[in-house]
Amino acid sequence: MTSDFYKSLIANNKKWVQSKLEKDPEFFKKLEEGQQPPILWIGCSDSRVPANEIIGANPGEVFVHRNIANMVVHSDLNMLSVLDYAVNILRIRHVIVCGHYGCGGVKAAMGNKSHGLVDNWIRHIRDVYRHHHVELDGIKNVEHRFDTFVELNIKEQVYDLAKTSIVQDAWKRGQDLYLHGWVYGVGTGIVKDLNVNFSCNAQLEEFYKLES
Ligand code: CO
Repeated sequence: MTSDFYKSLIANNKKWVQSKLEKDPEFFKKLEEGQQPPILWIGCSDSRVPANEIIGANPGEVFVHRNIANMVVHSDLNMLSVLDYAVNILRIRHVIVCGHYGCGGVKAAMGNKSHGLVDNWIRHIRDVYRHHHVELDGIKNVEHRFDTFVELNIKEQVYDLAKTSIVQDAWKRGQDLYLHGWVYGVGTGIVKDLNVNFSCNAQLEEFYKLES
């Protein structure tokens, strides 16, 4: 039996269509013509961090990839496909990695409890902890350590984006492509720019630079 909750989803969609058409009768017709979003958003799957909504964006304005703890894993074919399509076909100009305070994935990586299959994904976040364990272990206040770990994880993912062949090749061709790291406060709704901005190969450590 279909629950009232489930039925309300379709009813809500009808209301949403109506409200959009009232403001602009051509709204969906224009979207049908294609997309040219200026932003690729790489965010957490967390239901409290809806990409479009928190930046006031409409359909057609943000190309989105989400996974647990907004990770950029260089062997993740899903992420790489989204990134390649965004950079090389859609020609987006900005990639924003947006994490959030209170991230369950990051919290899991701070402890040793097993959560099943997802442990294998969390492993990538644990690797970030390992890189920064001296700084993180030095923070005695657990909440502060958690917040700092969330921020460091976002910065590492921006850095990992810059290391990909897709981003490096775009920069080599002179394509305008800017990478950014943001942290979102679930309890405040406020986005903070972590000022980890990459826009050219020169910013990469020698070790990661790819040459033709
Ligand atoms: Co999260």
